[in-house]
Parts: sequence; structure tokens; C-alpha cells
Amino acid sequence: MQGDACRAAVESALALGYRHIDTAEMYGNEDAVGAAIAASGVARGDLHVTTKVWHENLAPDAIRSAFDASLKKLRLDHVDLYLVHWPSKNMNLPAIFETLFKLKAEGRTRAIGVANFNVALLKTVVEEIRAPIACNQVEFHVMLDQTKLRQYLAAKSIPLVAYCPLAQGKVSSDETLAAIGRKHGASAAQVALRWLLERDGVAAIPKASRRESQQANLDALKLTLDDADRKAITALPKDKRCVNPGFAPAWD
Ligand SMILES: NC(=O)c1ccc[n+]([C@@H]2O[C@H](COP(=O)([O-])OP(=O)(O)OC[C@H]3O[C@@H](n4cnc5c(N)ncnc54)[C@H](OP(=O)(O)O)[C@@H]3O)[C@@H](O)[C@H]2O)c1
Repeated sequence: MQGDACRAAVESALALGYRHIDTAEMYGNEDAVGAAIAASGVARGDLHVTTKVWHENLAPDAIRSAFDASLKKLRLDHVDLYLVHWPSKNMNLPAIFETLFKLKAEGRTRAIGVANFNVALLKTVVEEIRAPIACNQVEFHVMLDQTKLRQYLAAKSIPLVAYCPLAQGKVSSDETLAAIGRKHGASAAQVALRWLLERDGVAAIPKASRRESQQANLDALKLTLDDADRKAITALPKDKRCVNPGFAPAWD
């Protein structure tokens, strides 16, 4: 989402009580997010703002310029989390993390992390560079198996931030999820979100432009699933990946 539509959606979400905003230089909407934050009146300390550096900007100077541009657009003096958005083939991970460490030491980002990193890349970051990453943001939802990645992250106590938590809206047309929802007076999307948030160490960043969906997604926190629901969700096919960076290394 960009421009006025993005600004309106973020203002609506903040008014409903959302406090975690996920953006990226690549989305071309940091200016709209910044305008919405400024208009919201929400105290900066109550917000958690994540932005990301694009894979074309992973040289140290380029990270610095991208970071400065992001802060300016967001109208902030710091972000809460700065992520490497996607891996690139020729990236120099030690140099990248040296730059990110400096941004953190300068107090310009409270935490650093990665997105779309597989286990092999995580091993380099966590075990060789020993970078204190706050999360790996990856696609995760009821229709995608992320067992191997989750096992590695859990062993290192690193949270997984689930993007496309609604499989880009596809969960709404799943009959199993809809039936579970009917049982609890909830929607298939709410069931899918609740299941994700029940997973240890998992946060979710659903995108919703409509106020009703934003409210419904918050209300998913009130839903209680039972063992039969969980069993049915576990049995769903888990091979539906919505996003696949072509240049990224294999996912297994
Ligand atoms: N790091 C990365 O590489 C990466 C990649 C992709 C996404 N992301 C992040 O993850 C966020 C979410 O991913 P996404 O937008 O691709 O997919 P998503 O959140 O799984 O799905 C968004 C879709 O679901 C619909 N929706 C939302 N709430 C709903 C509800 N309660 N009932 C029915 N439909 C509902 C939305 O409709 P409306 O908008 O019409 O309400 C939209 O069409 C993005 O905004 C982005 O911040 C990160």
C-alpha cells in the first residue's frame, strides 16, 4: 500500500490499537507511514517500527544512505528494528553486520535482524559473525511448513516474524479453516492468525487495508482453538509459498 491509502490504513490501525508497523524502503510507503505516525498522536515509545534495507543496497555506504533516507521519510530519529530485507548472492555478511552494529551502537536502531534467510545463512550470521539478531522475518502461515527453520530459530531463541500470515488472503477460501471458524463464531482468517500466534516464538504482521479486517485481526487474539482444530490445521497441505526470492539460496 502506498500514498493516501497507506496513510489512511496506518492511521486506522493505530486508532484501533495496533502498535507494530512493518515497512521497508522497497515498499515505497515510508513517507505515508511517517505521515500517519505523526498524525496519530501515539507516543513514539509506544510504537514498534520496523523498516528494511533492500538487497541492492547492502554495501556499507549504501546501507547508511538507505537508512538515512528511511528515517527521514518516517520522520523518526530511530527505528525499533532494521532488517536486511532479502539476501543477495554477492553480499558480504560481515561488512553488512559491521554497518548494522554501528547503527545500533549509535542508537539509530534499537535492534537489527534479517528477513528471508534460510538455515545456512542464519548459521553464518549467528554462529560465525555472532550477530545478535532480533528476528528472522519469513513467510509463515497455515499453508506453509517452516519446521526446519523454526527448529533452528528456536534452538537459538530467535523469534520468527511471520509475513503473509494470511497467505495473502488465500486462507479465507479454505473450507477447513472456515468450518473451524463457524464452530467458534470466527472467520477463517482469524483462525489462521490465532494458530500462528499460538506457535512459540512467532509474531505475525498481517496486512489489512479495511478497518473491519484490521479489527477482525486484532480480535483473533481472543479466539481459543481446541485440539481437534489444531489437528485439522496441522493436516492441511503445507506447500503453498506466496513469495520466493529467485536469487535467494535454497530454502531447506
Ligand atoms: N520481508 C518480506 O520479504 C515480506 C514479503 C511479503 C510481505 N511482507 C510483510 O508482510 C505483510 C503481510 O503480507 P501480505 O500483505 O503479503 O499478506 P497477508 O497479510 O497474508 O494477506 C493480506 C491480504 O489478506 C487480506 N486480509 C487481511 N485481513 C483479513 C481478514 N481479517 N479477513 C479476510 N481477508 C483479510 C487483505 O485484504 P485487505 O487489504 O483488502 O484488507 C490482503 O488482501 C506485508 O504488509 C509486509 O509488511 C514482508
